[in-house]
Amino acid sequence: MLKPNQAVSAGVSSTDEPAPVALFRAHMPKIDLLSSLPKSKRDVQARFSDKSPEVIALSKQFGKEYFDGSRAYGYGGYRYDGRWLPVARDMIRHFGLEPGMRVLDVGCAKGFLVKDFMLACPGLEAFGLDISEYALRHSPEELTGRLHLGSAVSLPFPDSSFDAVISLNTLHNLERPDVVRAVREIERVSRGKSFIQVDAYETQAQRALFLDWVLTAAFHDYPDQWINLFEEAGYTGDYFWTILE
Ligand SMILES: C[S@@+](CC[C@H](N)C(=O)[O-])C[C@H]1O[C@@H](n2cnc3c(N)ncnc32)[C@H](O)[C@@H]1O
Repeated sequence: MLKPNQAVSAGVSSTDEPAPVALFRAHMPKIDLLSSLPKSKRDVQARFSDKSPEVIALSKQFGKEYFDGSRAYGYGGYRYDGRWLPVARDMIRHFGLEPGMRVLDVGCAKGFLVKDFMLACPGLEAFGLDISEYALRHSPEELTGRLHLGSAVSLPFPDSSFDAVISLNTLHNLERPDVVRAVREIERVSRGKSFIQVDAYETQAQRALFLDWVLTAAFHDYPDQWINLFEEAGYTGDYFWTILE
């Protein structure tokens, strides 16, 4: 797999005349597909002072408190507001998705992005999977039959059954061996187009801030360690990091 932002030249050998400009750029796996998502406000100090083993244990159940309880447990209330619509449009453009194609969101929570995929591209067959029964029970009514209860480590879908598979801020909730399994599953069910975004940090200061904030993540690391993991899992898709600053 290519390293972040690594480009490949136009295939001209060192003995050939150099090309005046690169004729094409290779697939660039590191890409920010969430740039149009409004940044959520994070009071790291408040989160840190509210944290306790009890709060963490409850958050990790991904139930009512995590989604719709106070900010100490997670989202602090998660309602549909259309914020994922521009992200859906960016992903549709990036992956070249069209009506009739199939896209899967692994860790879809209440399915808001699944809904917005179908609003942005009527006829696109969008599906989701999440481990939270609470989230799925509180998803938009029109998603009935599109959201599956299950774990990312074992996707209940055949090989190559989706044109694109995405997973946003979900896989870091698993322990490392399960993250590898889940990434392999994403690779297995996709037809080669996928995107994974996970928690990471690039500096010690970012890591310290993250540790104060984090509730549910079980595996998190520096980008090079994530890239090692992706390679270990045979991942060929795109990725990006969620970094607290
Ligand atoms: C931070 S939320 C992200 C939700 C959504 N993708 C987003 O970006 O807003 C993490 C989600 O991962 C889900 N989750 C945690 N462990 C999971 C697992 N093993 N398999 C599938 N989903 C899981 C949680 O229920 C929750 O909906």
